[in-house]
Amino acid sequence: MLVSDAGYSLRDYEQAAGAIRSRISEAPSLAVILGSGLGAFVESIPNATVIPYADIPHFPEASAPGHEGKLIIGDIAGKPVLACQGRVHTYEGYSAGQVTFPIRVLHMLGVRDLIITNAAGGVNTGFQCGDFMLINDHINLPGMVGLDPLRGANMEAFGPRFISLTAAYSSAHRQTAKRAAAELSIDLKEGVYAYLVGPCFETPAEIRALRLLGVDATGMSTVPEVLTANHCGMNVLGLSVITNMAIDHIDSGRATTAEEVFETTRSIAPDLARLLTKIISEVG
Ligand code: HPA
Repeated sequence: MLVSDAGYSLRDYEQAAGAIRSRISEAPSLAVILGSGLGAFVESIPNATVIPYADIPHFPEASAPGHEGKLIIGDIAGKPVLACQGRVHTYEGYSAGQVTFPIRVLHMLGVRDLIITNAAGGVNTGFQCGDFMLINDHINLPGMVGLDPLRGANMEAFGPRFISLTAAYSSAHRQTAKRAAAELSIDLKEGVYAYLVGPCFETPAEIRALRLLGVDATGMSTVPEVLTANHCGMNVLGLSVITNMAIDHIDSGRATTAEEVFETTRSIAPDLARLLTKIISEVG
């Protein structure tokens, strides 16, 4: 039997999709993944259906702080949306295939447009803590050494063996996000996201190296999900919140901390809600 890199069969994905389908009347064609500390955005959706990941067969359970581990299905800006409140990461010990299990389930449910958010360290010196960055491309360093969710037997039911990533972040969605930010007078930066497995934050030398590579922001998620979503033909929009400026000097006297990351996510929550609501209302 053909199985994915993480050992899932087509039936496993179908079972998970079936469990979700049985709890909702109609599956939305738009989904949003809310990263570290960014999940508050969907707490106030009226009459939402809430499905804990633990209730969905084979769904990986979120263990990282700030990741609730719930699917929330409801209307945002009058549009049906499926929100993943929290995600799992490769640093938790999951394989790239396990991390992306939910993406294929979303595809089976009929999701066509996917908004992926994350908390990231700012590498571009022109950025500030609290900025939003539209992801226009990425560098997948773990993927270059084999930690790629599409490695292993290809599951043709989802997509072809080889895929192009020249437009991994939908051009139409990027235009929509820029327009939405401009209408709200929210400063939206744009740039390249580098995925590193973590959980250690980067050394100053690594940050300087990433800068030389053309990286604007770095984090521990998103890229495996973007690859899997592209494989099954979804249109992806990637949005980073710059929760801290990466430290590029060993004698700076500063340290990157998870507290700083969460404090920033708390302080930008109202603007993130405005921006995502506007993008959702105009996407697709
Ligand atoms: N590095 C990696 N991941 C992150 C960071 C960072 O500085 N901030 C938030 N997630």
